[in-house]
Amino acid sequence: MTMYLYPNQTNENGMLHIGGVSAETLANTYGTPLYVMDETAMRESMQAFKRHFTHPKLATDVLYASKAFLSVRMCKLVHEENLHLDVASGGELYTAYKAGFPMQNTYLHGNNKSPEELAMALEYGVGTIIADNALEIERLRALAKSPVKVMLRINPGIEAHTHEYIQTTKNDSKFGLSIFNDETYQLIKTIDESDNLTFYGLHSHIGSQIFESSSFIEHANAIVDVIATLTHSYGVNVPAINLGGGFGVRYTRNDDPVSASFLPDMLDAIAKGIEKKALTFPRVMIEPGRAIVAGSGVTLYRVGTQKTTHSTKSYVFVDGSMADHLRTALYGAEYEAVIANKLNHPHTNSFTVAGKACESGDVIIHNAMLAKSEPGDLMAVLSTGAYHYSMASNYNRLPRPGVVFTKQGDHYPVVRRETYEDLIRLDME
Ligand SMILES: Cc1ncc(COP(=O)(O)O)c(C=O)c1O
Repeated sequence: MTMYLYPNQTNENGMLHIGGVSAETLANTYGTPLYVMDETAMRESMQAFKRHFTHPKLATDVLYASKAFLSVRMCKLVHEENLHLDVASGGELYTAYKAGFPMQNTYLHGNNKSPEELAMALEYGVGTIIADNALEIERLRALAKSPVKVMLRINPGIEAHTHEYIQTTKNDSKFGLSIFNDETYQLIKTIDESDNLTFYGLHSHIGSQIFESSSFIEHANAIVDVIATLTHSYGVNVPAINLGGGFGVRYTRNDDPVSASFLPDMLDAIAKGIEKKALTFPRVMIEPGRAIVAGSGVTLYRVGTQKTTHSTKSYVFVDGSMADHLRTALYGAEYEAVIANKLNHPHTNSFTVAGKACESGDVIIHNAMLAKSEPGDLMAVLSTGAYHYSMASNYNRLPRPGVVFTKQGDHYPVVRRETYEDLIRLDME
């Protein structure tokens, strides 16, 4: 079985290098477990989205969905690449604000924003608030002292082909308001007629880890239909549409994601639909998260104990756990790994890679094909740049790993590893 490495990863005499830096150097410098993300790879994926998401008739913006991975340094990278930022909580907003990210290029999401989060967004001067429901509109109308741009998250009822936990526009989804409900259109009219709210358009996101470009195009067409209804039946102009993220990535060799090069087709479908229905061209936005950071990242672990159970299941235990790698336990996500210091050894043995948390479900990879390893070897779990650090917890009082960026042979820390002292810093006697 041949090993699959990502474009920013190389095999130098049997040692994995990430962004030109040896895995051993990184592990020795920063300790393990460690999240390593390659800056060059992240910049390249941001640039690819910017390059492909253009159309002669449509103005466009690419927003980075910060829930995939956020830190102060990441905000700076996103700004340097001229992307806008999607934040979905007071904490993500605070991080962006503290990082000096331009607030006019920030969009606040969330299906249950608190009055405090809304007030914070107004105080910081957030560019656009993506409202999810009528209560948020009511609160914003009460709070906003000067006109604020508001988009409404709608649910077009499209079932994208992905895991049900990451589908977001099924008809029973918790996000947004259904396009099949007249109240949704009435709410948009209310926004449009408010003195202190400016209706800026529609937002919709069909889910994550989607591989078929047809799902995205079907989604775009459905939103054009909603623009037509709003324009022709309700007299409301729709200046912008935000089609969310969800672009699939390669976690294992079986994954075959679409590349950003299909985006012009999606924009073309929108432009044609708009022309055919005699509508005004909207500004179009997308919000990739995973596709920007996932492949840039690996998690480095030290191998510890190994065990074969009575029923002949072979485990390799690493010095991390579901606390730093949640997606496998959460919804059975699949990953591949390599023994980073033994890349030239055949990776032909099947192991269950498990962590050190007190849960039987604490599995990082079921059936990983690996080289035989010994305690102290380095394991690299691939494609962990998205939804790993951002979903990490302190379960079992495990300190969260640090995050390091590599860049053309160099490396620098962007999030410090937690210490035991950090673990008790909020505790009270
Ligand atoms: C509203 C919204 N936009 C963007 C994203 C990013 O999705 P992905 O990381 O799959 O691109 C999400 C993910 O949950 C989302 O809810």
